[in-house]
Amino acid sequence: MSSQQDAPETSPHILVLGMGGTIAGLASSPDQNPMQYEAGQLEVASLLAHIQSAIPGNVKLVSKQVANINSRNLTESLLTLLGDAVREALANTSVKGVVVTHGTDTIEETGIFLQLTCGKYAQNLGKRVILTGAMLPANAPKADGPSNLLDAIRWASTPIDNCPGGIYAVMDGRACLAMDLAKRHGSALNAPIQASPSSSAGLINPSWLSGVKAVQALWTEDLPIPKEGEWPWVEILTSHAGARSETITHWLNSKVKGLVIAGSGMGGFHDAWKDSLVAAVKHGIALVRTTRTGAGETLPDLPEKDISGCLASGSLTAPRARIALQLSVYAEKQNQTAGKSLTWQDFFARIAVLPVIR
Ligand code: SIN
Repeated sequence: MSSQQDAPETSPHILVLGMGGTIAGLASSPDQNPMQYEAGQLEVASLLAHIQSAIPGNVKLVSKQVANINSRNLTESLLTLLGDAVREALANTSVKGVVVTHGTDTIEETGIFLQLTCGKYAQNLGKRVILTGAMLPANAPKADGPSNLLDAIRWASTPIDNCPGGIYAVMDGRACLAMDLAKRHGSALNAPIQASPSSSAGLINPSWLSGVKAVQALWTEDLPIPKEGEWPWVEILTSHAGARSETITHWLNSKVKGLVIAGSGMGGFHDAWKDSLVAAVKHGIALVRTTRTGAGETLPDLPEKDISGCLASGSLTAPRARIALQLSVYAEKQNQTAGKSLTWQDFFARIAVLPVIR
């Protein structure tokens, strides 16, 4: 049975939060051109109605529409709404697990955001939060959304030996930590890549599980969710041939609080940026380096000694490093308001050590 309701549900259930995406998308001519579609058209309740007959009778579903967007338009306010909804659901003893339907374009950002703000809480409560999406719209002949959603519901609702509570993602029959899922192809049907999936949803690969436990041992405390309108402004700048110092100096006259450099190779940046980046750090702008290559770690003082105050992103990609830096800058502010002295670097360093499960 599934329901969407205003009165709180008090019997045990799985909460399905809808964010939109292709999984809720509709194509105008699905048989001729399924890839020409609009994301975020169907309510999450109707996605559940479509798979109702395949849901085990003992699993009760409750749905809530948080947003219905193409995830390329994801905003920080929506992340706040989603994060608050997930934490509220985790705190609710009637909620046994949470599924989030999401567009794949920015699922990478939402995955790291939920890990860093709700991951420890979910683990401590032994509840799983599962992100899922689709590459084909809901009315395409071979739509992948229904099977992904079913897998996510099963993963959220089935007790699985040894698999702890936490923030996971399920796509294409395979599960991974949500912070390890990213879209790595513009159009391919298998574009959302799991760094190292468990063998399949529900069937756990032991080496993957020890990777999950290693990440969870390192992640000891969630960061606060920025309130709406309080997210620090952080931009990603890509180093490239012909880079100009103005690309950096431009930001000195803005309210930007942080810059993530998507550098070349090991995360290096053009010499033309050096002096202006030093000036940016002196100006109080938080600076993080990562690589634009899409893979591999960015390590401190490689390929050369870091500008004082600049941190390397570890295995975080630029979109993930941006969310991590926003949360770290916000955490520093909260911490100082509470009379403590941890800096954004202290918070970011805790995130940059989290390994990708291989
Ligand atoms: C979106 O991210 O909302 C559109 C693309 C997708 O879900 O695959």
